[in-house]
Amino acid sequence: MPEKNNTIQVVRKPDEMAEVAGKIVNNGGKIGLVPTMGFLHEGHLSLLKLLNGKCGVKIASIFVNPIQFGKNEDISAYPRNEKRDIEQLQAAGCQIVFAPDPEDIYPPDFQTYVDVERITQGLCGEYRPGHFRGVTTIVARLFNITRCSVAAFGLKDFQQAQVIHRMVKDLYLPVELIFGETVREADGLAMSSRNTRLSLAERQTALRLSRALEWARQRAENSAVEVSEIVAGVSHIISSSPNAVIQYIECVDAETLKSVETIFSRAQIVLAVYVGKTRLIDNITIGKDSGTKPIASVIL
Ligand code: PAJ
Repeated sequence: MPEKNNTIQVVRKPDEMAEVAGKIVNNGGKIGLVPTMGFLHEGHLSLLKLLNGKCGVKIASIFVNPIQFGKNEDISAYPRNEKRDIEQLQAAGCQIVFAPDPEDIYPPDFQTYVDVERITQGLCGEYRPGHFRGVTTIVARLFNITRCSVAAFGLKDFQQAQVIHRMVKDLYLPVELIFGETVREADGLAMSSRNTRLSLAERQTALRLSRALEWARQRAENSAVEVSEIVAGVSHIISSSPNAVIQYIECVDAETLKSVETIFSRAQIVLAVYVGKTRLIDNITIGKDSGTKPIASVIL
């Protein structure tokens, strides 16, 4: 039987989750899903709110997915606090938590992967080979296990959002996608489970990411501007701190993720930076038309 935590139901076994979900769907219920790796913050919880009015039952999954971590990435260092996560989910109106064990998601005979091709190649994909294959495989699996008809993802992970959108389109998955804007701390730092690893000094450095992106947004607000100037400016703001190492800063078309050279109307500036040992990502829409249409509707 599923563990009961007051009103929230915690399901561990994939078969049991599929059975619970099947009953809901067969009774005419509509399921909404927020996939997460836990250690929740307001960014995750904002996605649950986006499901309001879209489904009768909200499921959040908590699963630190081993196959999306590279060989040199320390999955055991990923922060976890399942008890607090479940309390937060319950307070946010989530009815079911699916928190499986890795050996149940990937039994020894598991051998089927979902691989989105071109748009996984650049940006994070270049530095994290196999990462998006791991993401699309688990997301497809979670969609099928939970029988969700709507699922919410954050634009904080911009490439991930586009890759999942591509997968849903290409495979005709019957899931409506909803994308949520990046939730930030009061000082602009994009919320991330990884922020807790930052020392006080590193946190100050991390602030430069959102400040640099905001500088870029203002610079490109009223006139066409060369990407080289934007990238140089963003790079300067970030790299003038000794404990920041830039992995990439790129200006791309929001839909194709291909590099652009001049920003005429709108583009997405995306970056990944190591602050100490912590890898942080952030992005923002820039250009004179950046405010006209929310980026989520560009994706859809
Ligand atoms: P995780 O990093 O836990 O993020 C879960 C969801 O929360 C993702 O859709 C992510 O984009 C969103 N999110 C994270 N920080 C956010 C913020 N500051 N504002 C808005 N949304 C934010 O992304 C993953 O897990 C995994 O790759 C997953 C999709 C669960 C597959 O394993």
